[in-house]
Amino acid sequence: MRGEAYPRRHRPRRLRRRDVVRDLVAPPSLTLRNLVYPMFVGPGDGPAVPISALPGIERISAGRTEAFARTLGNEGIRAVMLFGIPKSKDARGSEADAPMGPVATAVRSFRTAAPEIVVFTDVCLCAYTDHGHCGILNENGVDNDATLERLGAIAVAHARAGAEFVGPSAMMDHQVGAVRAALDAAGFSEVGILAYSAKLASAFYDPFREAEDSAPSFGDRTGYQLDPRRPLDALAAFERDAREGADILMVKPAMPALDLLARARERVDLPLAAYQVSGEYSMIQAAAARGWLDARRAVPESIEAIHRAGADLVLTYFARQIATGWKGA
Ligand code: PBG
Repeated sequence: MRGEAYPRRHRPRRLRRRDVVRDLVAPPSLTLRNLVYPMFVGPGDGPAVPISALPGIERISAGRTEAFARTLGNEGIRAVMLFGIPKSKDARGSEADAPMGPVATAVRSFRTAAPEIVVFTDVCLCAYTDHGHCGILNENGVDNDATLERLGAIAVAHARAGAEFVGPSAMMDHQVGAVRAALDAAGFSEVGILAYSAKLASAFYDPFREAEDSAPSFGDRTGYQLDPRRPLDALAAFERDAREGADILMVKPAMPALDLLARARERVDLPLAAYQVSGEYSMIQAAAARGWLDARRAVPESIEAIHRAGADLVLTYFARQIATGWKGA
């Protein structure tokens, strides 16, 4: 108790007494309009394959993406981020920019079957290389500038298929500038870039690597993804990517990096995205499956936190549960 000096007249609970009053003073929350559903596209045309570490998420075959696009459109999904799994892998990730590759095929399906959905594509090599690293190797590890050329070619292949935004995520220096230049040179100046600006080296990506079959066969990604101990690298990356022509900046993972989102919000005026990654999804799903928490309340709370920290849009594997009101979830 601070006696007289304590302002006893201040009673914030007056604003919390009932729902209508709480709603009256609350700023708008993110809705389905601000969510992007990440999805995995595999080769062939067989049935969907469940991903054990991502309960509720399946790998969709390229040949079935038209039907799936229609389903998502009917559920009210507004945007997707596409990840591909190739038929076969090699040292340079050849299928990543093949016109008949999984992502290009899926992009065309969305354009045809659900043209209102905004299509983002992931531009990286890790699922396509036989060594599982995000770029081309040389004797010293991942070769930054050789990889930039591949990223440019992949972005152009996705743009040619009809992607509206591409998301370079290999974490090579100057990947945004290189992709921007490649797109412009190929006549795709209208295609936008979602920059994975602050993509931290994170344990929370592990379930994704099962989905994508993209775990590195040796070493790890600490040589190119950001060191979580160095926030200054993230701040520099926001400004660099904005200068290099990014349209949207992203922080990833989301909940373990809320501070970076808040700091990005103070520094740049571009829209900010956050990626609630596979491990964040699986943690909530695993606890909910055991009855330890209620996902229907935990998920909106997690997205609200990400929004409060500064995100305008959120990539989340929960987008379909949110769209369908947790029907069957
Ligand atoms: C590709 C990529 C990864 C994720 C998105 N793009 C994996 C990685 O960097 O290892 C992770 C997404 C998730 O965990 O949901 N480089």
